[in-house]
Amino acid sequence: MRDTPPVTAVAHPNIALVKYWGKRDEDLVLPLADSLSLTLDVFPTTTSVRLCPAAARDTVVVDGQPATGEMLRRITGFLDLVRALARRREPARVDTRNTVPVGAGLASSAAGFAALALAAAGAYEVTLDPTALSRLARRGSGSAARSVFGGFVQWYAGPPGADDADLASYAEPLNDARLDPAMIAVLLRTGPKPVSSREAMRRTVATSPLFPGWLAATRTDITAMRTALAEGDLAAAGAIAERNALGMHATMETATPPVNYRTQGSRHVLEHVRRMRDRGEQTWSTMDAGPNVKVLCPAADAQRIAAELGEITGCPTVVARPGPGARMTTGMCP
Ligand code: DP6
Repeated sequence: MRDTPPVTAVAHPNIALVKYWGKRDEDLVLPLADSLSLTLDVFPTTTSVRLCPAAARDTVVVDGQPATGEMLRRITGFLDLVRALARRREPARVDTRNTVPVGAGLASSAAGFAALALAAAGAYEVTLDPTALSRLARRGSGSAARSVFGGFVQWYAGPPGADDADLASYAEPLNDARLDPAMIAVLLRTGPKPVSSREAMRRTVATSPLFPGWLAATRTDITAMRTALAEGDLAAAGAIAERNALGMHATMETATPPVNYRTQGSRHVLEHVRRMRDRGEQTWSTMDAGPNVKVLCPAADAQRIAAELGEITGCPTVVARPGPGARMTTGMCP
């Protein structure tokens, strides 16, 4: 029984402008509210999956190293879902290459599970339309549901309590968005995070007194963000995104025990972005489960703004633009 040829897919990270923070179902990865993101054209993840009928178990290699612990458990658990869909049992070998540090708040799990969903579905010969692929990617990591698509994307929470809750929670590209901005990643630190986003999210929902208020605001933010995108209003979109992200960090910082992803370096950038705005630049910050700050700005100004942020921090910056959805690619991981 020979191994099958590898099926390879590539996907890009997405950065939420209205965040996903909090699940109502851990097993199905159903969120408490809709979220809305921009898929970037930088930091792709490439994943190959081949079936190994003679093997005793799955093998997972991430950036050239065998995966262990929680990462291995999550990926083999995800392969089990694909095998159940395919009604097949063969173990697989997964090879993943990230171009962004894992666990640094730069959405490596979003790109990773979107690429894995596509490659694994291909390897096990399960035919999925983009909506079904988004639902499947969601089971690996919630934000991966959005990286299935390019550009601006909304992930629907689906109605709570419905029998078909799993079916109703998927992402969709926003074809009426009339913005074409840039997003600058300020790479402050690239080490792994102190607390996983999964654990931080759980702890926040269970203990933060600020969480209910932020969740209610998020539901309003989605509607306002949709309007801002449809009207091509970057100032409105930026203001909503920054407030939503800072609010999310406030919820986790008031959890018990608190989770702090903001470092001195992050605060310095957040403050500088505000100062740039005071002097007339169109710049707004967002942050995820890590210290790095992402800055939304007009594409035409991005190189200049990135140079200034690089200068004040002494850290590398990367200018991203809206990027594509997950797709199959030929050849193995690079
Ligand atoms: C802060 O998608 O990594 O980036 O579903 O537990 O795998 P799990 O969480 P994950 O959380 C992302 C949280 C965030 C905000 C966002 O991307 O919306």
